[in-house]
Amino acid sequence: MMENRENFKNRFTAVMAMAGSAIGLGNIWRFPYMVGQNGGAAFIVVYLLSAVFLSLPIFLSEAIIGRSTQKSTFGAMEQLAPSSAWKWLGLLTVASPLIILSYYSVVGGWSIEYLLKSLFFRLDAYPSLSELSSSSVTPLFFHTAFLLTCALVVKGGVSKGIEKFSKITTPLLFVLILVVAAYSVTLPGASEGVRYLLKPDFSKLTPEAIMSAMGQSFFSLSLGVGTMLTYASYVSKEENLLRTSLGTSIFDLVFAILAGFAIMPAVFAAGMEPGAGPGLIFDTLPFIFGKMGESIPRLTELIAMLFFLTVLVSALTSAISMMETGVAYLIEEKGFNRDKAMVVIFAGCWTLGLLCSLSFGSLSGVKLMGMTIFGFCDSLASNILMPLGGMLFTIFVGWKMSRSQVYEEFTNSGTRSFNKAVFKIVYFLIRYVAPAVILLIFISNLVY
Ligand code: PHE
Repeated sequence: MMENRENFKNRFTAVMAMAGSAIGLGNIWRFPYMVGQNGGAAFIVVYLLSAVFLSLPIFLSEAIIGRSTQKSTFGAMEQLAPSSAWKWLGLLTVASPLIILSYYSVVGGWSIEYLLKSLFFRLDAYPSLSELSSSSVTPLFFHTAFLLTCALVVKGGVSKGIEKFSKITTPLLFVLILVVAAYSVTLPGASEGVRYLLKPDFSKLTPEAIMSAMGQSFFSLSLGVGTMLTYASYVSKEENLLRTSLGTSIFDLVFAILAGFAIMPAVFAAGMEPGAGPGLIFDTLPFIFGKMGESIPRLTELIAMLFFLTVLVSALTSAISMMETGVAYLIEEKGFNRDKAMVVIFAGCWTLGLLCSLSFGSLSGVKLMGMTIFGFCDSLASNILMPLGGMLFTIFVGWKMSRSQVYEEFTNSGTRSFNKAVFKIVYFLIRYVAPAVILLIFISNLVY
């Protein structure tokens, strides 16, 4: 039996759920270390350009497809383009969020471990991320705990689970990150870090850095993998799609910048290396917190705890949205009930996550195209699957759907007025700019 389809109650809860999906490890773990590895402010400039010219059109395309069909990815493609090759895009976007969830859950597990550390122990007295992640048992335990927590929320369904959870956690995240950022920028020596975030040095921008900035902006907004499409399918027909999408994008962007200000000034204040890579927040920050704890013990411990709580909560709401994409597919297309769908997705992601986790230790010798299993999944998702999915979604809306169909969705079937000039710009971005630029970046990366 297929479940009755639920909807988000209003714009606030829709935006909170979508922003909950968008704001995650992408903002707080990936963004700062990518900025650190790719030349600071110059990377942020490309990231912002990509957010406006590429991510927004993709976001709108997914929103249009999801809301107009009220179906998740595969069903939506089947409804709008029956028995065509587009079903492969539907299937691709069922698979890709689950690939992401598998390794994402491993990092989510680390964040539980660090939160516990900051609650009970001195952070600087702990092993580094590489020591911690290479042990076999503990990370697996926390990977399991993280994935189980997601499963419990997803089991609650759209309104009793996802909506209820993110309505509280998303505003909470902003409060938490603001506290940590305020602390970080007032540290002695922090101004160097602030300058690093604000003064671009374009000489550091390689084609690879541009590709990474684009991938990062898709990753951060959960784009190209059908997650926003699925969430948009729960947005009511009366809602203004452009406002919902813009609202979510702005929240996500502001949060990423705040996370940058929470982390970089502290890194510089402690005279550490901004280009430390994926270990940046897990290795560098505990060290900094530990060192500062010597002078103001209670406050620093509290900040460390708040920081890792932010990491964990933001990761959970994102992981929930990835799981929901797969669960919605199994319910709608395969006739599963929610519980059974959840168990199947849990089992698949847990297993792939196990391999990703072990690739820091006993499986570190296994290389796929020169990368560990974890690195391969991350790079496959953000450098290939997300841009590819995003490009195909814009092509679908720009070229396969008719202009009037798209306009109808913006005007809620003619019941809402929509500025014609804005529509023209948005449609142009969807039809020409986003697909062409993504293709160009793909090609230039192959050439270099
Ligand atoms: N946007 C999430 C983050 O920033 C990651 C994500 C990717 C979520 C794809 C859902 C789908 O962490």
